[in-house]
Amino acid sequence: MLALTSEEQALLAGEAGVGVRKAAEIVVALGQIYGARCLVPVVSVQVAGVSYRNLGEAGLQFLSEWAEHGARVRVPTTLNPAGIDLDAWQELGFSSGFARQQEAVIEAYRRLGILATCTCTPYLVGNVPAPGDHVAWAESSAVSYANSVLGARTNREGGPGALAAAIIGRTAAYGLHLDENRRATLRVDVRCRVKTQADFGALGTLVGKAARNRVPYFTGLDEACSSEALKALGAAMAASGAVALYHVAGATPEARTPGILADGYDTLVIDDLGPAYAALNQDVRQIDLVWIGCPHAGLSEIAEVVRLLGGRHTRAALWITTARAMRAQAVAEGLVAAVEACGGRVVADMCVVVAPMYELGYRTLATPSAKGASYVPSHAGLQVRYGSLEACIESAVTGIWPIEFGV
Ligand code: F3S
Repeated sequence: MLALTSEEQALLAGEAGVGVRKAAEIVVALGQIYGARCLVPVVSVQVAGVSYRNLGEAGLQFLSEWAEHGARVRVPTTLNPAGIDLDAWQELGFSSGFARQQEAVIEAYRRLGILATCTCTPYLVGNVPAPGDHVAWAESSAVSYANSVLGARTNREGGPGALAAAIIGRTAAYGLHLDENRRATLRVDVRCRVKTQADFGALGTLVGKAARNRVPYFTGLDEACSSEALKALGAAMAASGAVALYHVAGATPEARTPGILADGYDTLVIDDLGPAYAALNQDVRQIDLVWIGCPHAGLSEIAEVVRLLGGRHTRAALWITTARAMRAQAVAEGLVAAVEACGGRVVADMCVVVAPMYELGYRTLATPSAKGASYVPSHAGLQVRYGSLEACIESAVTGIWPIEFGV
């Protein structure tokens, strides 16, 4: 039975306006469906459903009406990637028709009081919840990172649910907001070498498929695995399954909690990443576009691309997608100039998976992102090569996928 405070009852009764009442109705309905006993305040929200390609006219109208009804967010709220770089769309080749529609969506979100951050890594640009903080985030890879690496608490929110939580500053306390649901139900013993970011993505692809929405607990991984590796692992599990929380022995904050493995947990042994590489690779050699930055790249990833390019000019198009604020940092460090000197681009705000890529004429893409490789064929209509960052940069330079690199 969901118990509401007097303040929450007032929001539900419409005392703060129609827009707020609508948001309270959504949060309360979700709480009732999932058996929550109360609502909890959230310290931040991350909203998905930003690309006009996914939202369409109906979604844009829904947002505009909510804003017209006086709804405004009460907590810091950031946006998922859009379908274009909001500044450089023309140089990238996107049409003005799509750009206008995308700008209208961003404007509708601005009227709701939301920062047009347009990134799936809000935790790299200032939206960093503390361990134990309740948040309502929607983008699946960000949800996984917030829960697993930062130790914050969020369910995998849908777009309207996250927005509603932002408008009333609360979410329903069920699922991963509760201690008992954060215990691991699947122990994963890793018995093969997992070294590169692509290896972590391949591992995540295999485990996500097997785990579905269970909570994995990894043993056998390097305790010093980097935040970039964990970002790739979580994104892949969220794409091939619906994993929203995982623990890595020695590496993630809740892994050391006594009794973190739930009674009756299952065990999965991974001793070969080959099946994931096979599943994520299509039989193409010529590469039109190399995509780095899924999830959006941090400064160290951009710097690593510059190092691997070593001043060589690219034959294929090379895009590194990142948050606009991160791009500004990369400009200050001279990294954007270095990428551009080689013919590449550091692209802000957007994600290839939700972009109208059909407008640009690319047919093949290489990426070190397992999430990107699993979504691009069906969502962006391009054939894909998946492998290490080194292999991807070589293919950017030569325009050919380097078989000699293996994967
Ligand atoms: Fe981010 Fe798009 Fe990848 S939202 S995680 S860049 S598929």
